[in-house]
Amino acid sequence: MSLTVAAYPNLRLRRLRQSASIRELFQENHLNPSDLIWPVFVCEPGDDTEIATMPGVRRYLVDELPEQVEEAYQLGIRAILLFPKTPSALKTENAIEALNPKNLICKAIRKIKECVPKMVVLTDVALDPYTTHGHDGILKNGDVENDTTVDVLIKQTLNQVDAGADGICPSDMMDGRIQAIRCALEVKGRVNVLLVSYGVKYASTFYGPFRSAVGANLQGDKKTYQLNPANAVEALRDIKQDIAEGADGIIVKPGLPYLDIVSQAKSFGAPIWVYQVSGEYAMIKYAAANGAIVEEDAFYETCLSFKRAEASKIITYAAKEISKCLKKISA
Ligand code: PBG
Repeated sequence: MSLTVAAYPNLRLRRLRQSASIRELFQENHLNPSDLIWPVFVCEPGDDTEIATMPGVRRYLVDELPEQVEEAYQLGIRAILLFPKTPSALKTENAIEALNPKNLICKAIRKIKECVPKMVVLTDVALDPYTTHGHDGILKNGDVENDTTVDVLIKQTLNQVDAGADGICPSDMMDGRIQAIRCALEVKGRVNVLLVSYGVKYASTFYGPFRSAVGANLQGDKKTYQLNPANAVEALRDIKQDIAEGADGIIVKPGLPYLDIVSQAKSFGAPIWVYQVSGEYAMIKYAAANGAIVEEDAFYETCLSFKRAEASKIITYAAKEISKCLKKISA
């Protein structure tokens, strides 16, 4: 008998799926807690509640952070991404609170680096948690002015770096900010600060719950700076621009609706991280709460899709829950 082409019946792909051990033998991608980055909301007393549109996610007081962060570390998570809910009384047109060395985010960074120094602390750079209008930058004639905003972002970065942040994630989408921030860090001798840029940030409806979490009262939309969801070529140009300007890695966000971009981004040779944003998290939580899907499975499956698309890290609000499940599976 001669074997000819690899086709049925010689080729039976179900052979690879016949038992749990055999499936594992042929598994192409794996999820580990160290793949996950946990975004954490920090707040002042009074705001330390669960976020209504993000079931299971709450804001923490600075003093609660060490225990939370230590737990994350024990679970295998190696980086967190901090976001502040600035009290409304401190929000202004020009986001001056972002530059206060004693602001909430700086207090949080100091606390974590003092109590859990091994955890990598990443912070967001953009002005929306500090502006009355909820935009990521400084407005002029109703639109965010690029270069004025970049000047403030540099100062915001240095403020957070001085407080001890290991890495900065600019999420503002201004042109030229990576180069400007990188140069400012070099001048200050802060050559080891990681700069992981949201090179691809779409103007997405999936950020809704996040905006409630940080108390942003957005006037209008962010379409003059965030990407048009219809565009892929432009997203790749944005990635190229940020890598050329000195970014250590690129974040694509949201995640699931933009897997094509995650997958193509890899070709530029820099690490690509993906952000499963607040609305994606909420969709899974709400569907599961209503019995439509199984929550754990949905988080695992979506994370595997990010791995398949070759994201090297996944930022997800479910990082701790997922890590606990992974521990259970491997036990
Ligand atoms: C702000 C920022 C946003 C998110 C991260 N940084 C929201 C926005 O651009 O309006 C969204 C994250 C999420 O939805 O989980 N620059």
